[in-house]
Amino acid sequence: MASRNRIFDLLRTINVASCQCPAHGYRGNVHVTSATPVKDYAFEMKNSTIRYGLGVTREIGMDLVNFGAKNVCVMTDSNLVSLSPIKSVLESLTKNGINYQVYDKVHVEPTDTSFKDAVRFAKNGKFDSFVAVGGGSVMDTCKAANLYYSDPEADFLDYVNAPIGRGKPVTVQLKPMIAVPTTSGTGSETTGTSIFDFEEIHAKTGISHAALRPHLAIIDPLHTLTLPQTVSNYSGFDVFCHALESFTAIPYNERGPAPSNPALRPTYQGSNPISDVWARFCLQVIQKYFTRSVYKGDDIEARSSMHLASTMAGVGIGNAGVHLCHGLAYPIAGNVKTFVAKDYGTEPIIPHGLSVVVTAPAVFRFTAASDPEKHLEAANLLGANTTGKKLADAGAVLSDVILKYMDAMKIENGLSELGYSSDDVPNLVKGALPQQRLLQLTPLPQSEEDLTKLLEDSLTVY
Ligand SMILES: NC(=O)c1ccc[n+]([C@@H]2O[C@H](COP(=O)([O-])OP(=O)(O)OC[C@H]3O[C@@H](n4cnc5c(N)ncnc54)[C@H](O)[C@@H]3O)[C@@H](O)[C@H]2O)c1
Ligand SMILES: [Fe+2]
Repeated sequence: MASRNRIFDLLRTINVASCQCPAHGYRGNVHVTSATPVKDYAFEMKNSTIRYGLGVTREIGMDLVNFGAKNVCVMTDSNLVSLSPIKSVLESLTKNGINYQVYDKVHVEPTDTSFKDAVRFAKNGKFDSFVAVGGGSVMDTCKAANLYYSDPEADFLDYVNAPIGRGKPVTVQLKPMIAVPTTSGTGSETTGTSIFDFEEIHAKTGISHAALRPHLAIIDPLHTLTLPQTVSNYSGFDVFCHALESFTAIPYNERGPAPSNPALRPTYQGSNPISDVWARFCLQVIQKYFTRSVYKGDDIEARSSMHLASTMAGVGIGNAGVHLCHGLAYPIAGNVKTFVAKDYGTEPIIPHGLSVVVTAPAVFRFTAASDPEKHLEAANLLGANTTGKKLADAGAVLSDVILKYMDAMKIENGLSELGYSSDDVPNLVKGALPQQRLLQLTPLPQSEEDLTKLLEDSLTVY
């Protein structure tokens, strides 16, 4: 069994340019020319088909009929299985004469073991399509189940991102998948990414390929009405950081080199004028509705708006990418010790949105120097009064407004409340270093010392 250190060393020594994960641009055999500009000069935008509307879940049975589906694998988790989102999906399937089997054992924050259990369930059935009803955990599990169902001979590591796995590009035809998100957070319904905790190395990794992207995302804000306050809160901070990180990521034309073939242009391309539109929209929605959506569970206007923002941020990050908060979050979540989050089951888990936002004040103080105007604009969109503020204060202004939201939403006071001390920082840095694709989207280069300081500054935040 490979040791954790060996895997990290391997990850670091492998040049990121060799990454064959299609989320990072590899799409099979392509013609490569030799003359490439040092910086990129173009960007492109991709996403799932999205349908948004109050009550639109009622159409899902008709969609499946349109796909020619006869026997559907419906995936959810043990909590959602008795709630209204799944009931409305099954009702529509029944009404349209679609047979289905329900798998309700999705693990919240899935692991390789839980993925394999879902794959086993799928392989024991005879399915022609997949439906995911849940948050990122359910959607990601369903993407993996669809993949290994469609390629039954594949070894699990074949498709896992290299170098942990073999990063094999997906060439098999997957079954149609419909995603029905029930949290306002990950945006997984728009992406070809499936994230899991690889237990052996205590770090998150994933499977990424355009083929995993759901055929259709049904965004029905009615489902958010059953969201507990804690989930609304933590997943809302995932949207918050998706918007802020994609907005402040390195600009697409500063990232390089330009690909020698358009098929090699990475999915995560850096900030660009289109993803900036998504990000600005999300930051404005957050200012207006985030607090209401957390504290007033029946506020359909606020919850609908956050649900749409979550999908829009998903499209933004699916193309522009995220950077340091997410890069640092993977080891923070992967090394969890005893922290148990209310409404996330009984196992120790640092929910994704919490693991991401906890370093945000330090991260944006650090990145502000790259583009102080844009950091001030972000702060302004989040509600800070930026009149008369100096560019030199941009980091402090943005970090202050982030802290205001964290305080208002009673976010834990830094990594120390999540069970970490300064003794853990070197290990967390070690876990962050392999996340090169995210670190390279950061608008400023960062050293190991910088990462250490960011984590130390995040031990207590208020
Ligand atoms: N694939 C991607 O692009 C992507 C992006 C970001 C994060 N992720 C991953 O997504 C996972 C987190 O997903 P999440 O934040 O959406 O939460 P989740 O799916 O883990 O769900 C969290 C909890 O909320 C409950 N819940 C969900 N919707 C509910 C509803 N409507 N009513 C009542 N309870 C509900 C669930 O049962 C669960 O207990 C992590 O594993 C993370 O790494 C994936
Ligand atoms: Fe995220």
